[in-house]
Amino acid sequence: MDTIVEKITGIWEDDEKIIRTAAEIIRNGGLVAFPTETVYGLGGDAFDENAAAAIYAAKGRPSDNPLIVHIAETEDLTKLCDDVPPAVYALAERFWPGPLTMIVGKNSRVPDTVTGGLETVAVRLPDNLTARRLIKASGTFIAAPSANLSGRPSPTAASHVKEDLAGRIDMIIDGGNIEIGLESTIVDMTGEIPMLLRPGFVTAEMLRETVGEISYDPAIMSGVSGDVKPKAPGMKYRHYAPRAEMTLVEGAPDAVIAKIKRLAKDAAGDGKRVGIMVPSEDGKFFSEGEIICPGSRENTKEIAKNLFGALREFDERGVDIIYAEAFSREGIGSAVMNRLLKAAGQRIIKV
Ligand code: TXA
Ligand code: MG
Repeated sequence: MDTIVEKITGIWEDDEKIIRTAAEIIRNGGLVAFPTETVYGLGGDAFDENAAAAIYAAKGRPSDNPLIVHIAETEDLTKLCDDVPPAVYALAERFWPGPLTMIVGKNSRVPDTVTGGLETVAVRLPDNLTARRLIKASGTFIAAPSANLSGRPSPTAASHVKEDLAGRIDMIIDGGNIEIGLESTIVDMTGEIPMLLRPGFVTAEMLRETVGEISYDPAIMSGVSGDVKPKAPGMKYRHYAPRAEMTLVEGAPDAVIAKIKRLAKDAAGDGKRVGIMVPSEDGKFFSEGEIICPGSRENTKEIAKNLFGALREFDERGVDIIYAEAFSREGIGSAVMNRLLKAAGQRIIKV
């Protein structure tokens, strides 16, 4: 299959043509990758069972892993859910459009293939003009997972989408680099107390300010060990992962640097090509290996934005093993560490 690639220009009329072409593809059951503020999504018609099946096939994704349905206005919720809880509107009022996905009870219009057979549906109103124009122009809602091959880091640039999906989907809309760089926060609104299933840019503290108490899916930080099964089915897979094995080192910067140096030296001695990921303040302490600094220790947002690109870059440089300094878990740092721990298969050394 030839994949059309079109770049958003910022000129309304030119972009209108691109969006019309993409909307037509969606209406005809095809697949379009498009930008959102978090990561690129791989979209298909949310009411078309075959489109959902095509999404799973293109990504190589297990079909028990449900998709997020993207809408263009808050009122669209009533077309997916018969009984929208008031707390959902309270959160929508504050965070939509934006990087928050809410799980609600689904009505019978939402196909089982989209929800992986669950009685609930994940809904999000993205804060990206191209995304919202596309949803509106398609005249339907758009089911979209992140636009990467299953298991690879989520795409934060159109080039990442091309790497993974060119030849497998109908169209890629290149909206430039993404602002946030980590997937949306997911909160399950179907119980008495909202439950955080996936941390993201909208933090637990921010949710609490609006809805009071929230609970946490115990699998968020511990990963999937023994009988702790995550409530978001997608969180159980080794995810966001570079090809090389990654280990995190956590502690005071001096001790972390010393430990990573020792580990890197040993691995290099074994003939391995070593990748090192540390905050930019610490880059100067390393001279050997493939060193990538996703951002300053003082700027967790910058680290979030560059994290997945950095993991892909290690793949490109062909490293065999990666040692990474653990970042702060404050605020959005909790989402950064959640993704890093997953990418590392929960391997972490404390010094
Ligand atoms: O930022 C984002 O959320 C991006 C952009 C494209 O919107 N999308 C995204 O989709 O990250 P995906 O498919 O990569 O992750 C969706 C997660 C999966 O872990 C899935 O299991 C969970 O949401 N999920 C979807 N529907 C669910 C439901 N009804 N109940 C629990 N978890 C659900
Ligand atoms: Mg994903």
